[in-house]
Amino acid sequence: MTDLSGRVALVTGGTRGIGLATARALVEAGATVVLTGRDEARAKEAAASVGASGLALDVTDAKAVSSLVRGVAKEHGKLDIVVANAGIMEDALLGMIKEDLVDTTLSTNVAGTLHTVQAAARAMMRKKSGAIVVLASIVGEHGSAGQTVYAASKAAVANIARSAAKELGRSGIRVNAVAPGVIETDLTAGLSEDAKAENAGKTPLGRLGRPEEVAKAIRFLVSDEASFITGQVLGIDGGLVL
Ligand SMILES: NC(=O)c1ccc[n+]([C@@H]2O[C@H](COP(=O)([O-])OP(=O)(O)OC[C@H]3O[C@@H](n4cnc5c(N)ncnc54)[C@H](OP(=O)(O)O)[C@@H]3O)[C@@H](O)[C@H]2O)c1
Repeated sequence: MTDLSGRVALVTGGTRGIGLATARALVEAGATVVLTGRDEARAKEAAASVGASGLALDVTDAKAVSSLVRGVAKEHGKLDIVVANAGIMEDALLGMIKEDLVDTTLSTNVAGTLHTVQAAARAMMRKKSGAIVVLASIVGEHGSAGQTVYAASKAAVANIARSAAKELGRSGIRVNAVAPGVIETDLTAGLSEDAKAENAGKTPLGRLGRPEEVAKAIRFLVSDEASFITGQVLGIDGGLVL
């Protein structure tokens, strides 16, 4: 099993779904993990359930992200791993897209990821080592009807990973993205049974994904097993886009 003992990790949006599964997977590999969510009580409760610690953070607030990341690095003496996972998804057909949907999606998924990567890079630069993973999506590469805003935001996230990887590689910091397919979490809970069955039917592995399956891929990417991998967008979709 991947050994992350002695590593300090931060997972944003860790209160449920992929973020919580990632926090659990990192704790199981021996890392000291801090997870965040917008509500402090919810973050602390989720953290306690996996042996991590929990803090309140809204990733749309650049100053708050910067100060939290600095605080975690100061408290633990370093920061080795950051998973910029916090994200939202709201569907709207092109003609129905409202300005506030654009604002909320871009400020959470794009600016929130950017703030987190920026703060992580600053904290990791001192030690000249670190690993960052951001959450893209298959729709960022392939598009999706009714998800133009979300898909655009996830294309941006993939390019945050690629660009940051180019910029930070010489400082010993690796940056990768994962691009999940349809994973069973609160984010996709609103899909109708028909839509879920259709997606599962189109997937070569014949089913939807589980948060733990994304978490294990993230754990690999932040570990030394992936020491020569950076700037990649790893699909975790059961073959859905083939
Ligand atoms: N599920 C999928 O099929 C799928 C597919 C592709 C990509 N993804 C991506 O994977 C990531 C996690 O998705 P998920 O399915 O696990 O979603 P989820 O179950 O809805 O969880 C989303 C997490 O993000 C946090 N969050 C949302 N807005 C935030 C903000 N402004 N500041 C801080 N935290 C915020 C939530 O925390 P609180 O609500 O507690 O604040 C929660 O912990 C997202 O980036 C998503 O786009 C998911």
